[in-house]
Amino acid sequence: MTEVTASIIKCDVGGWPGHSTTHPDLEETAREQLADASNAGAIEDFHVTHVGDDLNLIMLHREGADAEAVHSLAYDVFEEATEVAKELGLYGAGQDLLSDAFSGNVRGMGPGVAEMSFTKRTSEPILAFLMDKTEPGAFNLPIYKMFADPFSTAGLVIDPNLHQGFRFEVWDIQEHERVFLETPEDSYKLLALIGAKERFVIKRVYPKEAHKLPSDEPVVAVSTEKLVDVAGEYVGKDDPVALVRAQSGLPAVGEVLEPFSFPHLVSGWMRGSHNGPIMPVGVEDADCTRFDGPPRVVGLGFNVHNELELTGPVDHFDDPAFDNAREKANEVTDYMRQHGPFEPHRLPLEEMEYTTLPGILESLEGQWHSVDAEASEVDAETVTVGEVE
Ligand code: 13P
Ligand code: 13P
Ligand code: MG
Ligand code: MG
Repeated sequence: MTEVTASIIKCDVGGWPGHSTTHPDLEETAREQLADASNAGAIEDFHVTHVGDDLNLIMLHREGADAEAVHSLAYDVFEEATEVAKELGLYGAGQDLLSDAFSGNVRGMGPGVAEMSFTKRTSEPILAFLMDKTEPGAFNLPIYKMFADPFSTAGLVIDPNLHQGFRFEVWDIQEHERVFLETPEDSYKLLALIGAKERFVIKRVYPKEAHKLPSDEPVVAVSTEKLVDVAGEYVGKDDPVALVRAQSGLPAVGEVLEPFSFPHLVSGWMRGSHNGPIMPVGVEDADCTRFDGPPRVVGLGFNVHNELELTGPVDHFDDPAFDNAREKANEVTDYMRQHGPFEPHRLPLEEMEYTTLPGILESLEGQWHSVDAEASEVDAETVTVGEVE
C-alpha cells in the first residue's frame, strides 16, 4: 500500500493576449523546472497544461497535502513563468501571484490548489478537471451528479459498492465554516446548500464508513483556497480545478464525465461578472475567445502507475461524444449574450467583480426625489399621471 498525494496547483501568470490563453513558453518554463524537481526526487511525476489563461501544474508526490516543499516549488515555477510573461509582454503578468501586478480585478491573492492524499489502489484512475472564467461553485453541480445523482451515475443504484452513497464536505464561504452531509439521506439539505453556489461549495467528497475504501481519504478535492485566505474580503471568482478518483467502488470514468454533457450555467465570465454555459473542450480548444469565453472545462484522465508515475493524460472532452454539449453551449451563449448588460447574464450587483455603480450613484447625488412624496402630491392634486410634471 502506497500513500500518494495528487496536487493541482494553478495560477494565471499572464494571458496571451488579454485573458485568452497561455503562451507555450510559460508551459515550457514550468515543464523544465518540474522535470528538474522530478529528477531531484522532490516530486514523483507531473503534467503541465493550461485552460484559457491559467497555467496548471498536475503533480504526484509523497509529501502529503499542504506540503511546503511542493507549494513553494509551484510558487517558484509561477515566479519564473511570470518573468517569462513579462519578457513576452503578456497581459496581467503575475496576475494571481504578485499583488503589485494588479490587472484590474480583485484577484492576485495566490495560486489555486486541489490536492488529496490517498492509499493507491492496484489501479488508480484519477481525473483532473480544469476550468477557466468561472468560480469553485461551478463544480457543485457536476460533482453532485457524479456522486449523488442516480440518474447520472448508474452505479449508485446497481453497484453494491456505491449503493451506500458518499459523504460531502461543504464550505460556507461567507461564514468560513464547513459541514459534512451524507447522501442519499441528506440529499435535499445538500442541494439546498450547494444550489447557492456562490456561497456554499463542495470542497471534498469521502467514502462513507461502510465503504471498502478508507473513509478519511478523499475521492474528490476542489480548489477553494482564495475564498478563505483573503482576510475579510470575499474573492469568489477564482478559476477552479478539481481532482476526482474513479472506479472500483467509485463512479466509473464514464460516470465521472457524464455530468459535463450538460453545459450548465456558471458565474465568472467576462470581467468575472457574467453568467454563461460551461463548454467541455479538449486542450486544443481550451482558449477563451468570444466575450473572453465561453467558460471552459478540460478533463484529463490518468492512471497512477505502480512506480508513482502519471500514465496519461487522456484528453476526455476531445471527443465527438461532447459535440452536442458544445453546440448547446454555443446556443446558450447566443441567448445569454443577447441580454447585454441585463441580469441574469450580468451577475447581481453584490457578485460582480467590477462595478461602476458607486460612481454613477455619486454622480446622481441631489437628483433623487422621494417617489412617496411625489405620489402624495399627485394624490392631493388628483391630477392624471400624464400631468404630473
Ligand atoms: P468497476 O466496479 O471495476 O469500477 O467497474 C465498473 C465499470 O467500469 C462499469 O462500466
Ligand atoms: P481571468 O480570471 O481568467 O484572468 O479572467 C479575467 C477576466 O476579467 C476575463 O474577462
Ligand atoms: Mg487572466
Ligand atoms: Mg483565468
